[in-house]
Amino acid sequence: MKGVMKEVTVVSKNTLKVTDESSGKTVQLPLFDGTLGHSTIDIQPLSRDLGYFTHDPGFGSTASCNSDITFINGDKGILLYRGYPIDQLAEQSNFLEVAYLLMNGELPNPEESGAFVNEIKWYSKIHENLRGFIEGFHYDAHPMAMMVGVVGSLSAFYHSELDVEDPEHRRISALRMLAKMPIIAAACYKHSIGEPFVYPRTDLEYCENFLNMMFSHPSENFYIDERQYLDPSLAKALNLLFILHADHEQNASTSTVRLASSTGANPYACIAAGIAALWGPSHGGANEAVLSMLDEIGDIKNIPAYIERAKDKDDPFRLMGFGHRVYKNFDPRATIIRQTCHEILEKHSNNDPLFELALALEDIALKDDYFVERKLYPNVDFYSGVIYKALNIPVDMFTVMFTIARTAGWVSHWLELMADPSKRIGRPRQLYTGHADRDYVSMDQRG
Ligand code: CMC
Repeated sequence: MKGVMKEVTVVSKNTLKVTDESSGKTVQLPLFDGTLGHSTIDIQPLSRDLGYFTHDPGFGSTASCNSDITFINGDKGILLYRGYPIDQLAEQSNFLEVAYLLMNGELPNPEESGAFVNEIKWYSKIHENLRGFIEGFHYDAHPMAMMVGVVGSLSAFYHSELDVEDPEHRRISALRMLAKMPIIAAACYKHSIGEPFVYPRTDLEYCENFLNMMFSHPSENFYIDERQYLDPSLAKALNLLFILHADHEQNASTSTVRLASSTGANPYACIAAGIAALWGPSHGGANEAVLSMLDEIGDIKNIPAYIERAKDKDDPFRLMGFGHRVYKNFDPRATIIRQTCHEILEKHSNNDPLFELALALEDIALKDDYFVERKLYPNVDFYSGVIYKALNIPVDMFTVMFTIARTAGWVSHWLELMADPSKRIGRPRQLYTGHADRDYVSMDQRG
């Protein structure tokens, strides 16, 4: 790899000048200012005029698109949806209102809110044939595997008449996904435990309806009724977690949805691609991984040994639920649910030693120099995993919960991308490090 120094100067507030000393050529790179946050450099002249690509594995420094939806300042711990601070939405809003905001750019007035809720209820049903797909899975299939497959299969139900160039078709596709995701999620869970599906109820609020489909039984269907089997604080906690997880700008799964969508592919298939990306333990799978880790640690006395393993570069073990690519100070979502987590544990923990272990780990890691120096704080998934466990949500459903919430963000980004007249197919370049060209060697000459 050759390394030639390039001279980079700021020419004016709006331009950077880059001179390539090997060729003597100079290009001016326009600077773009967003409403908030870092300015970005238009690097297209580097490849067009100088013949260089930029190198940014993991895209830590690359703005892949313009977006009006979500703003994050990782150093200051700021998260805004359409300009509204996450703590205000978490305290005063509910998940469907936040979904409307993300999709449409403004909070709904009472009439718009009522119409949106009714539309979601209208689309809250699944084609009976879709049950066949769910029932085709082996009983012990991971629910995220089922989600990838079943949501992807929606593309077979809604393809022939779908015109992704038509804004109304796009709006309805987005509503369908938001409405059907909890039904598919609960149906996958019921299949995994061998119980019959519970149909959605239009008299219930979004999160209540989901809890009812999860924990009720068709023969009784009274998890939530006048007898109030449901502690209302559970639906409230779920609304809070769904709001916090609803969007997070260009994270791995949202970028996956955008990349797949940039080809003009069927939106349900694109969302299935997002679900696959979310499943990984470095992303949405972390909430499940937190619980597996706590199980593995097993006892407070073992925490120091696991902290040492997390610090050891030769050991792949990491403390799940700690650290974040963007938040290097604190995760504002974690700050909001830390309190809820502690409150729920007081009420619902049933003295489960696992929760004592979680709180001890939080305490020890927050004081440890390795974690303090690297600003590795507990992230939203540390607390959400613990809360879901306390709410009796099965551990392998944790990432499914994240999926339901993040659907609001995915469909909003999809709507934004599809309406963008300047959209182009996503197609990154590479630094090739393989063999230079060489001649084919026939089988009898290969040793
Ligand atoms: N445990 C131990 N060390 C860690 C951890 C961890 N969880 N996270 C980062 N580090 C160390 C890392 O080894 C590196 O050390 P050094 O500077 O000595 O080489 C330093 O901290 C910086 O880490 P990084 O790998 O450059 O950070 P990243 O931005 O590439 O990765 C992350 C971010 C979230 C993938 C990572 O922190 C991690 O794997 N955390 C555990 C998984 C997790 O909780 N993921 C959920 C993220 S929040 C939900 C979401 O938004 O999807």
